Amino acid sequence: MNSPVGEMLVCTGRLLHVARVLTCRAQMKRYLSSASGSSNDDLANAMGKRATWENFYKTQSEQGTKQFDWFVGYEEVVDLVSPYLHKPGKSHRSHLVALDLGCGLSNVALKMCLSSEEPMRIVCADIVMTALETMRQQYQSTRGAVRNSESQLLFTMADASQLPFRDRCFDVVLDKGTTDVVIRSSGGSDLAKTVVQESLRVLRCGGHLLQFSDEDPDIRLTLLNDVAIRDRATVTFKDISTPHGMEYFMYVVQKGSERTD
Ligand SMILES: C[S@@+](CC[C@H](N)C(=O)[O-])C[C@H]1O[C@@H](n2cnc3c(N)ncnc32)[C@H](O)[C@@H]1O
Repeated sequence: MNSPVGEMLVCTGRLLHVARVLTCRAQMKRYLSSASGSSNDDLANAMGKRATWENFYKTQSEQGTKQFDWFVGYEEVVDLVSPYLHKPGKSHRSHLVALDLGCGLSNVALKMCLSSEEPMRIVCADIVMTALETMRQQYQSTRGAVRNSESQLLFTMADASQLPFRDRCFDVVLDKGTTDVVIRSSGGSDLAKTVVQESLRVLRCGGHLLQFSDEDPDIRLTLLNDVAIRDRATVTFKDISTPHGMEYFMYVVQKGSERTD
């Protein structure tokens, strides 16, 4: 799209995206302010509480909101995530298996499942049932548009610090903003470590944990490297900040080979 009209459309698209992200952030901040009082500490503490999210999704459901993406949505993450969406070469499985940890009302798993040529099974997990119910309804109403009829979304209520899945059953774990809120709960640093440990436990060797976060690498890399060492995992990150001053990072943890001890 090299014509002036094409460039104008791309530019308008970008502006609309920035406006949408800012609206989402403002909406969430307003909601958290009213739920918790007004200081920044209160805001941070509120985000770490399950009740905050239960009330948030209840309000969204009453208002008929079907989608709410933290940081960035499918269009912004698809190219970043795609390189990690493959099953191991020698796998007998016909499909890739992914986990969207703390899925909320994000459109990422839904759109990934609908648009993938390769068959994909994605488990959407959250601690709040209302969010999962809204997601399930969305999936049911769009299921007809799935590109590969073997692809499937599944929904389950789960606590990220105690995942109800067996070891090594996922190829990819996606965590967009979930560890960020766990860190803000009481005992947050230890709990966040447990969440990363659980994510690596359920990943197959060679699989990837993809975290999208606004936490600075100085802090997040310490947490990830502390846990990664046990699983011989490697940690890298990418600055995916927008040119409009919103700082985000994508952290990639690749699980290493089996431990022998
Ligand atoms: C910041 S939102 C991100 C939602 C979604 N991933 C997105 O990108 O829009 C954090 C999500 O984590 C969920 N959550 C918080 N604590 C959790 C826990 N211990 N286990 C599972 N999900 C949790 C919340 O209900 C919420 O949906």
